[in-house]
Amino acid sequence: MGALKEIQPIKTGLKGEILIPGDKSVSHRSVMFAGLCDSEVKITNFLHAADCMSTVNCMRALGVKVKELDENTLIVKGNGFHGLQEPQSIIDAGNSGTTLRLMMGILAGQKFLTTFTGDASLSRRPMGRVINPLSQMGANIVGRKENKLLPITVIPAKESLQGIDYQMPMASAQVKSAILLAGMNAEGKTTVTEPYTSRDHTERMLEGFGVKLEKSGTSITISKVEKMTAPKEIHVPGDISSAAFWLVVGSIIEDSDIILKDVGINETRTGIIDVLKAMGANIELLNVRDEVEPIADIRVRYAKLHGTSFGADIMPRLIDEIPIITVASMFAEGETIITGAGELRVKETDRLQVITDEFNKVCPCIKGTQDGLIITGGQRNNLQKTVCNSHNDHRIAMALAILGASGAGIEIENSECVNISYPTFYDILTRFE
Ligand code: S3P
Repeated sequence: MGALKEIQPIKTGLKGEILIPGDKSVSHRSVMFAGLCDSEVKITNFLHAADCMSTVNCMRALGVKVKELDENTLIVKGNGFHGLQEPQSIIDAGNSGTTLRLMMGILAGQKFLTTFTGDASLSRRPMGRVINPLSQMGANIVGRKENKLLPITVIPAKESLQGIDYQMPMASAQVKSAILLAGMNAEGKTTVTEPYTSRDHTERMLEGFGVKLEKSGTSITISKVEKMTAPKEIHVPGDISSAAFWLVVGSIIEDSDIILKDVGINETRTGIIDVLKAMGANIELLNVRDEVEPIADIRVRYAKLHGTSFGADIMPRLIDEIPIITVASMFAEGETIITGAGELRVKETDRLQVITDEFNKVCPCIKGTQDGLIITGGQRNNLQKTVCNSHNDHRIAMALAILGASGAGIEIENSECVNISYPTFYDILTRFE
């Protein structure tokens, strides 16, 4: 069993500023894409967390130089668009679905062999969703359980990849990105269409690297690329998925008034703000500015929340925030109904299952459905201090910590997994205990 962490209840309203660490999705992509260029790229506010370090180690294994100037500043120097080299041993993607799925896209058209492994969680997650479309393009990728699971080997294809027109069965930025990245090495055009638009960091950043994309509705088209041109510097915005924990705690603890600094507010990621506002939250965007991604400071003040309903259409815009939205719903008056969240069953854990199993130990008020949750709110005074298990899922651990801190306290088993996306999370939380 991993580390047990005790969280104390927060005694007074939260005040002050919280600097939000770099966005995980943007950090991954910044190192990958910079590593496909031949000039030095400085990456600032890089998220120094286990998942992003999996990507750094992967790119290093492929011959890209990555220097760490300090915790959050990297200098990446690749060998050009055709300059990746065969790794000398197996690459470990750790817990990171983004590393593995996007790298399969980058490697599908390469002339060398790469084998991936990962941790127990990643080894259970479905990879057929990427391997199938890449195979249709002519890639030769094999994996356990009929090419669905890790370990996975990307074998050089006999002939060059061919573009496809692919209709994705689910909204997923990882799948979309893998296909677009493979499309950069494929003959002709590659078009990918999603049922709903997922986060568009890949598209924005590729355009920032001089790659042309055509967009129409939820479809994106890319053509073969010969060279990418890197910007000198990439500044990673703060991660709204990390800010989400403070958006909720600031909304549910009386007398709170906090400012979350430098948060990315790309509209493909801001579903959490829309849902909290629909619940009655007091959230204000300040100092909005535009870089490759739009950024703002976010002010959140305590408000009386009420239940809400939402489903598949908004899901890609808040896919990682369901655990913390569940906490907000437990404090809100009335019922919250979440549908269209079946993708949560294939995240770091089956999050619908883990939420019902673990959060109900604190207060039995959540019913799981096949693709969602029904939460009976108004539980502020019914929360028990108990021991819950994160199941090594970082977002579950952090949501449980906020639930305990906002209620009667909590003990969390396997608490150290916050290092996957937010290593300083507990330090910030204990500032308020
Ligand atoms: C991510 C996409 C999402 C998200 C994950 C990061 C990305 O996954 O849950 O945390 O960086 O592209 P899916 O694409 O599987 O929905």
